[in-house]
Amino acid sequence: MSNILICISGSIAAIKIPHLVHKLSQKGYKCKVIISQDGLKFVTSIAISAMGADVYLDNSFEYNSYDQVMQHINLGKWANHILIAPASANTIAKLSQGFADNLLTATVLASDASKIIIPAMNKLMWKNSLTQKNLQILKHHGFTIWGPASGLQACGDNDMGRMIEVEEILEKFDTLINPQAHILSKKHIVITAGGTKEMIDPIRYISNHSSGKMAYALAEHAISLGARVSLISASSLPIPIGSTINPVISSADMLNASLKLAANADIFIGAAAVCDYTVATYSQQKIKKTKSVSLDLVETPDILKTMRATYPKLFIAGFAAETNNLIQYAKAKLINKQLDIIIANDVSNNKVFNQDTNQVTIINKDFTEFASGVDSKSNIAKFILKHITEEFNAKK
Ligand code: PMT
Repeated sequence: MSNILICISGSIAAIKIPHLVHKLSQKGYKCKVIISQDGLKFVTSIAISAMGADVYLDNSFEYNSYDQVMQHINLGKWANHILIAPASANTIAKLSQGFADNLLTATVLASDASKIIIPAMNKLMWKNSLTQKNLQILKHHGFTIWGPASGLQACGDNDMGRMIEVEEILEKFDTLINPQAHILSKKHIVITAGGTKEMIDPIRYISNHSSGKMAYALAEHAISLGARVSLISASSLPIPIGSTINPVISSADMLNASLKLAANADIFIGAAAVCDYTVATYSQQKIKKTKSVSLDLVETPDILKTMRATYPKLFIAGFAAETNNLIQYAKAKLINKQLDIIIANDVSNNKVFNQDTNQVTIINKDFTEFASGVDSKSNIAKFILKHITEEFNAKK
């Protein structure tokens, strides 16, 4: 886990920092905080310490030990990331010129941690060409600048200069730490799951062996990549935490839910084993047992084809579950269903349905193939989503 040093300079936005410290500590980050003398006019060291961080102040005239004298060096070495938040125009100016006239500026100068400036100041101070020039210098020296935001300021002005909100800082920080973890942030992914059931009479149905494990693994991983996930599920597995579940039984139910949810989706993944046939006429009463019975079956509507016809711009990923001629049949489905990508799945010898492992070949629109080895469905989900994300970004 990362060590985060937060440096508070003089701005009213300092009152938000105890909350930031609390949230970062909750996420497991270790936090230490330097408060400049001007920062102390807006926030107390007690408010910060109460949220779980050690506080360091500018009281060098009281230093009487080696550790205290070396505080700026030690803090600078300890930190993996330094957030200067709020960063006042004055502190930005000092940092841009390499000043080391207080604990805050000395520590920043003495550290090779990543440094992030989170400005907060009056709109005119922000717009001033001197501030802008200082920020350019800091950028040139590897500092990252987050914000400011526009909005109502303490002085009554309404413009650029407000410190970005704590939630935005947390989001940006998570992305900085783990860029992969947010590649699907703000994306809505709809995933179909499980084997649909086509009722013959009140007690009998046509279905298949799909458990929903592959689709749920995709949902779980998409959530961990920051996506909002809607599952349209014919499976009875426990719901992946963080997803929205839309239970369905038949292929007609699945189609209706898909049409509704795909209206605001970015990516649609057809991982369900949708029954290809349903009975022409459903019997309201239990069909009585006879020596033989024949059922008149009709084709179910193709969900993926309907999605493509309804939402021409939607990114659609389909599966091809085959027992033979895997790649050939998968390519035919890719074209026929007008998909953006297809996941060819060899389901022969009962090796995928309701199992914990899988092996797939992903085929792009230009017929490039990417084969996975045999792996857990969780790792196969990662493999699939990596390729879906790449293709999705390339299509945008
Ligand atoms: O659920 P598990 O036990 O974990 O098993 C995983 C799985 C084998 C079900 C999964 O990996 C898989 O391959 N799902 C697709 C199964 C399937 O129905 O394949 P298909 O080749 O018959 O259909 C091709 C594609 O068209 C699929 O994306 C399917 O969802 C879709 N389809 C099929 C019929 C239909 N009426 N409408 C559709 O949209």
